[in-house]
Amino acid sequence: MRNNLPPPAAALFPDRSTRERVDDLLTRELANANERIAVGPVMPRLDMAKFRQELAGFDFEVPQTADEVLAWSIAQLEHGTVHMTHPRYFGLFNPAPVAPAQWADRIAGAFNPQLASSGSSPAPVEIEAHVIRAIGRRAGLPSNAAGHFTTSGSEANYTSLICALTRAEPRFGTDGVRAFAGPVALYTSRECHPAWLKIAHQAGVGRSALRLVPSDGHGRMNDAALAEMVERDLRDGVVPVLIAATAGTTGGGMIDPLERCAAIARSHGIWYHVDAAWGGAALASDRLRGTLAGIELADSLTIDAHKWFATTMGCGMFVSRDAAVLNQAFTVGGDFMPSNASNLDPYLNTVQWSRRFLGLRLFLALAVAGWRGYGAHVERAVAVIEAVKERLLERGWVALNDSPLAVLCTAPSAGEDGNATGQIRPIVSNLLASGRSWVARTTFEGREVVRICATHGETTLADVDELVAGLTASP
Ligand SMILES: Cc1ncc(COP(=O)(O)O)c(C=O)c1O
Repeated sequence: MRNNLPPPAAALFPDRSTRERVDDLLTRELANANERIAVGPVMPRLDMAKFRQELAGFDFEVPQTADEVLAWSIAQLEHGTVHMTHPRYFGLFNPAPVAPAQWADRIAGAFNPQLASSGSSPAPVEIEAHVIRAIGRRAGLPSNAAGHFTTSGSEANYTSLICALTRAEPRFGTDGVRAFAGPVALYTSRECHPAWLKIAHQAGVGRSALRLVPSDGHGRMNDAALAEMVERDLRDGVVPVLIAATAGTTGGGMIDPLERCAAIARSHGIWYHVDAAWGGAALASDRLRGTLAGIELADSLTIDAHKWFATTMGCGMFVSRDAAVLNQAFTVGGDFMPSNASNLDPYLNTVQWSRRFLGLRLFLALAVAGWRGYGAHVERAVAVIEAVKERLLERGWVALNDSPLAVLCTAPSAGEDGNATGQIRPIVSNLLASGRSWVARTTFEGREVVRICATHGETTLADVDELVAGLTASP
């Protein structure tokens, strides 16, 4: 009979005083790094050859002290990433995370609740469900709408397709796409997020099932073209299963005609999804939420908390008008699981099984800021972009998109046709090389543009001036 055990691995389970010391050290060191980042270059300045050599030195044979490894890790992140936390990162929608979300990560990491089941995590599961219902209500969905947190907007969009297929054909769950009377099709605009292609692939409907509807010349889905495509497909024996409108396109922040798309979906009994991955946060603002009118007609929604709600990555949300379809799509037997509440347990209603407590991030942030606080946050971002736009227009640049959200697609007006193609690449690469600011290069309505997006809640007018100076500096 065994009557003693080896001691716990001390490096993995340090005593309380060591943990407190390291936690305090981390708090201080991270705050110091953040301050240095704000006054340094946005772009990484890491010597990658030296970094790779040091990395190769971690052969995991000789343990190092926590202090050494933590200091090394922070230094690599400080110098080896594009800084999303820099106030002049005007980038893809990767925000500087709000403090409550970072606190939530710390709490979730400490308790490490398993959010697969309400049996093991009754309080966390209900906190997440509460936040999702609040988001659904804010969007104007009925009070019994339900959903869950996802790792990303792509997972949420994928979930919409699985729900659409499940509702369109009850035998889809057992027989897959073979159950349909013909090939299936889903529709979104050509300005959509490209992950839709992977989603069609993953779901087994095939990339050719994705119909990219032409846009209207202003970055929005052309609803007349959508109606024609659906009707043509129906005549050809194709089964339309999903229309996905975008409320805040990735490139130009444009909002598809949500009500007209809803009417087309409704008239053919097609599942109607609104991908508001980053634009959805505009719901927080009483001034801006009207721009999303028609979102309340959706069968389902994607909103990423890790975009404009500025939580830490990745924290998507999926909300469905019909709660039951989620269980039809994702139910499974799990004798070993501590609970099996078909209307609540995440493992019975979502793509994932083991799940981190993501929803605490938005819960805490909403709880301390309220809708009003978040409304002020998104309105401030729009004001930042208005300030950038005013300054660039004064310098002869043109605005290509007309978005009510916090993104500007712009170009220097040049050439007879005002087309600046050829200039965009050097402008963006010179700016990035200078390290002064970060902006993206993209295509809007077939034209190459500089894309500037406000993603940092503390960007100042001095940062805006610095961005404009960097963009308009001669090379
Ligand atoms: C409109 C839209 N949908 C979906 C996505 C994908 O979201 P994620 O990066 O969280 O997977 C994005 C990302 O930028 C997006 O802008």
